[in-house]
Amino acid sequence: MKYGLIGGGPGSFIAGVHRAAIDMTRAADLVAGCFSRKAEKNRTAASSLGVAFDRIYASYSEMAEREAAREDGIDFVVVATPNSTHYTMSRAFLEQGIDVSCDKPLCFTVDEALDLVRTARDKGLFFMVTYAYTGYPLVRHARELVRSGQLGDVRVVIAEYPQDWLADRVEDQGNVQAQWRTDPAQAGISCCVGDIGTHVENMVHFVTGLEIEKISATLTTFVKGRPLEDNALIAIKYKGGAVGHYWPSQVAIGRENGLAFRVYGTEASLEWEQETPDVLKFTKKGHPLTILTRGGPGLGPEATRWTRLPAGHPDGLFAAWANIYEAYCNSLKNKIRKKTCDEPEVFPTVADGARGVKFVHDCVKSNRADSAWVDAAAPVL
Ligand SMILES: NC(=O)c1ccc[n+]([C@@H]2O[C@H](COP(=O)([O-])OP(=O)(O)OC[C@H]3O[C@@H](n4cnc5c(N)ncnc54)[C@H](O)[C@@H]3O)[C@@H](O)[C@H]2O)c1
Repeated sequence: MKYGLIGGGPGSFIAGVHRAAIDMTRAADLVAGCFSRKAEKNRTAASSLGVAFDRIYASYSEMAEREAAREDGIDFVVVATPNSTHYTMSRAFLEQGIDVSCDKPLCFTVDEALDLVRTARDKGLFFMVTYAYTGYPLVRHARELVRSGQLGDVRVVIAEYPQDWLADRVEDQGNVQAQWRTDPAQAGISCCVGDIGTHVENMVHFVTGLEIEKISATLTTFVKGRPLEDNALIAIKYKGGAVGHYWPSQVAIGRENGLAFRVYGTEASLEWEQETPDVLKFTKKGHPLTILTRGGPGLGPEATRWTRLPAGHPDGLFAAWANIYEAYCNSLKNKIRKKTCDEPEVFPTVADGARGVKFVHDCVKSNRADSAWVDAAAPVL
């Protein structure tokens, strides 16, 4: 297949991870792009990526129209630009009948999110939102353990994503990624929750299937002069009686990308950390701790399917991204070949993205009401 990329100009961050992951799957080639709003950077990126100059576009809208009109146009587009652009860009490609992979958070408002869900659904298009941590094999196994009932009923979830890169005003020191994430016009109504709290929300939902019912959130801006929060403490009540606590932070000195979850059920518990992704701790009631490893014994088919290297050879974040891209690209290939599958591929979708947007809004709403409990049911899709 062929794909186009929006974003990924010189000095950018995550677009390179999208590209590396897609390359790893060997499912699609990069043939078109709008890598930057600046013409020179656009051309620099295109030549370094081997994209023909007639397929570099000055704007995403021109790219959507011209690629849709081509016989050999792109099969899907990757949107890897700041949050403020996601909605209009994704919509432009959906309108042209082009499948979309967009980064998180999906968009600014719940209405926009629902519009994207419905548009993709009505047009029969696949829309992935790159919550890529769900691609780790041991996260897949954790999900299987919960789904197969081995944890019993989930009672308590503790999840966090501490980082420290915004502990000082790096947005004043030329850090582009910090500049737009702390600017409401480009990031939206939230910095910390939108940027990394959404990963926590998505991960817990993916692994446990729990549905949030109520939220009480305390969003704090520790670094003076910053218009958006850089730390959040979020208490959760789930449907069915389970409770949870989420802590995303960008000011936690000494922490890097510490996404982690602990899930406690009536029969067992499990624990996983993103910085040691090849280890899953599992404890059955009355039994000693079991340490499961990627590629090691005791894993089910989901973890085995997404294991790319033998046990003990770390493959890391790129492989997790490649796993969600492989599932997405398999779905696209099946659609192109008009092949139906009994078991749909598992990748994070636009519906997950909508759930994330609603979560951000509920956290902000609760915080504005002095951390009052607010009804926080997922949007009806
Ligand atoms: N899924 C994840 O784990 C993950 C990780 C990091 C970032 N992200 C998300 O990815 C997105 C990008 O984040 P980043 O840190 O890579 O940002 P970045 O600032 O490093 O890169 C953004 C790129 O988009 C380009 N750009 C901006 N507006 C554009 C436009 N109108 N047309 C074309 N190009 C344009 C910029 O020139 C730049 O090349 C954000 O939404 C962020 O939340 C997701």
